[in-house]
Order: sequence, then structure tokens, then C-alpha cells
Amino acid sequence: MKLANQVAIVTGAGRNIGEDVSKLFAQNGAAIAVVDLDKARGDKVAADIVAAGGKAKAFVCDVGKEEDIIACVKDVAEHFGKIDILINNAAISDNKNMFDITTEEWNRVLAITLTSPFLFTKHVAKDMIARGVKGKVVNVSSTSGYYGRDRATAYTAAKGGVVNLTKSLAIQLAPHNIRVNAVVPNKIGSPVGKDEFDPTRPVLNLVGRPGVPVDLANAALFLASDESSFIVATALFVDGGCTALMPGNA
Ligand SMILES: NC(=O)c1ccc[n+]([C@@H]2O[C@H](COP(=O)([O-])OP(=O)(O)OC[C@H]3O[C@@H](n4cnc5c(N)ncnc54)[C@H](O)[C@@H]3O)[C@@H](O)[C@H]2O)c1
Repeated sequence: MKLANQVAIVTGAGRNIGEDVSKLFAQNGAAIAVVDLDKARGDKVAADIVAAGGKAKAFVCDVGKEEDIIACVKDVAEHFGKIDILINNAAISDNKNMFDITTEEWNRVLAITLTSPFLFTKHVAKDMIARGVKGKVVNVSSTSGYYGRDRATAYTAAKGGVVNLTKSLAIQLAPHNIRVNAVVPNKIGSPVGKDEFDPTRPVLNLVGRPGVPVDLANAALFLASDESSFIVATALFVDGGCTALMPGNA
């Protein structure tokens, strides 16, 4: 039980990566705040965890709105008594080029994908510091944060921002015994914003198979557990080695 007696918030926990992170963390002893905008999805994941003998509660929250984040952090802390772990996983993509994306769409992608890890970490860290919790924060970036693409203009900008935001937050929270790291997935389960897993989705990596959500969940578990206590401000690639080949994989 790597996370015994820990309380974890997982944002965007209603499916795919967030769902498997929530379930793996629960199997490792954590109580899970299943945070999602989609109530039905969040309720289902929380119910699955409880049915398997774990602890979980769903919280509806639009991570693109600071007032929702503040209310969610308060509700989670009241319900579970503290917060030890924050997984900033929720994101949306635009899939548009610079001429097609509207300013409104750009702002929404940035709000959910980049500003929410900043605001969630800020409000959770205040709670951790007030309670003397030695916290762990894991931000979910993307290989799209390291390379340009012919579309996903706002998403690539936001994910690049998540990488450097992670370093600043890590520096500022280290004196408070809060460790901040990032994970960097590529092609894990279904694409962002989609339910369907297409087994024929082309992947070019060193492992020779698409990633599955538990691949990312295992990395997040490592960064959220004491096994990684000397690891801070880093970005752990969970990409099957594809970035070694990236020019042919864009
Ligand atoms: N799937 C991949 O191949 C892949 C690759 C690289 C990076 N990532 C990153 O991994 C993370 C998870 O990706 P995924 O594929 O599991 O995403 P997904 O689209 O399958 O699931 C995202 C979840 O977030 C929720 N959500 C969306 N907007 C929200 C909001 N405003 N407030 C609260 N919840 C909201 C959705 O309801 C959904 O349940 C994201 O940060 C994504 O950028 C995924």
C-alpha cells in the first residue's frame, strides 16, 4: 500500500488516464476525490472504486473556473479531512491551426489545460501548508508540449507551459515540503477529448504498442509515493521512447 492514509485529488478523472490513475491510487490505499466536469463519468469511477473496496467520492468541478476550483478544494478537504496528493490531469485540445482557432477557443484551452494546474496547485498548496501536509503534485503535460504541430495550437502552447510551470511551482513549494513533478505522455488509450480507443491508431515508438492508461498511472503513482522522495521538478516521459524518434512521429 504505497499511498496508505493518503487523500488524492485527480482532475479529469472520469475516463481514460484520470480514471486509471484514480483506480490504481485507490488500490494503493488512497482515498480519491474524483474530480470531473461530467457528473455521470465521475460518479461511475467513484462507484467502481467503492465497489472494489476503496474510498472515493465524485466532485463536479469546471477546472477552467477559479471559483469552482476554490469550492472543490474546500469540499474535498472538508469531506476527507486533508489533501496529500494532487494530480492535475484535466485538459482539452483545440485541434486547430492558428488561423482557424478563435480567441475564445484559445482562452478556454489555456484556462483548462494550463491555468487550472496553476490555480489547483495554488489552492491545494494553501490547504497542505495550513495542515502541515508533506504534499505531492503531479502535472500531466504531453509530448505536444515539447514539439510544434500543424494543429492543436493552443494545446501545444499550454502543454509546453505546464512543463515550465512545474519547475516554478516546485521551487516555490519545496520549502513547504511539497514536491511537484510532471509526467509527459504520448498516445495513451483514447485521444484527448475522445472515448473510443482505436487499436489501429498509428504509433511509432520503441515499445511497439500504444500506451494504455495504466502505463501513465504507474508513473504517477511513483511520483506521488515516497519512492520518488529525491525526485522533484522533473518531467518523466511516458511515451514508449517515441520522442527519440519524434520527427517521424509528429
Ligand atoms: N490520451 C493521450 O494519448 C494523451 C497524450 C498526451 C497527453 N495526454 C494528457 O493526459 C491527460 C488526460 O488525457 P485523456 O486522454 O485521459 O483525456 P480525456 O479527454 O479522455 O479525459 C479528460 C477528462 O477530463 C474531463 N474534463 C474536460 N474538461 C474539464 C473541465 N473543464 N473540468 C473538469 N473536467 C474536465 C472530461 O470530462 C474527461 O472525463 C490530459 O492532460 C492530456 O492532455 C493524453
